Amino acid sequence: MSALGAQFDGHLVLIGLPGSGKSTIGRAVARELGREVFDFDIEITQRTGRSIPQIFADSGEGYFRKMEIELTEELASRSPAVAAPGGGWITNPGVVALLRPPGRLVHLRISPTSALHRLSRSRVVRPLLLGADPAATMEALWVARKDLYQQADIEVDVEVNDSQRVIDLIVALAHDLTGGLG
Ligand code: S3P
Repeated sequence: MSALGAQFDGHLVLIGLPGSGKSTIGRAVARELGREVFDFDIEITQRTGRSIPQIFADSGEGYFRKMEIELTEELASRSPAVAAPGGGWITNPGVVALLRPPGRLVHLRISPTSALHRLSRSRVVRPLLLGADPAATMEALWVARKDLYQQADIEVDVEVNDSQRVIDLIVALAHDLTGGLG
């Protein structure tokens, strides 16, 4: 626990492509800030007793997105946390407005190619990337979502910056009580 100084009074929400490091960075930032981490996919898995691929296969993506919206509504009434939603959370209309203000969004920026490369070392299955051409799918996700990700208050390039630098930049944003933007 290294940085329990005054913090802005809202959720810190990490957004970005699958593979950008939202869950890992989110855990580390939460630890440094002394906040809870709210990892959407973990919450959904625990609450349903089903894995994310199972939910997509049995109930469909629409059902999963509805759960994301419900969890966002719940999160909005909780004390300030570090939130790590899945990469497609931002495509749900209205979710950003549920958290911001006072929440702040951080885009963990990564190229689709690097994102896919990182995922090749992950044990977590991403149902949207199970098709024949995951590289094309990841590129399509980026094209469809980049404007949404760019609604973030700050963007941190996770390829240029090492993990500790990414964590430090986000922790600094939480301690900036002037609005933190720009
Ligand atoms: C998804 C990303 C996943 C998970 C689900 C859908 C997406 O989370 O929520 O497979 O639509 O991009 P990560 O971004 O943590 O991989």
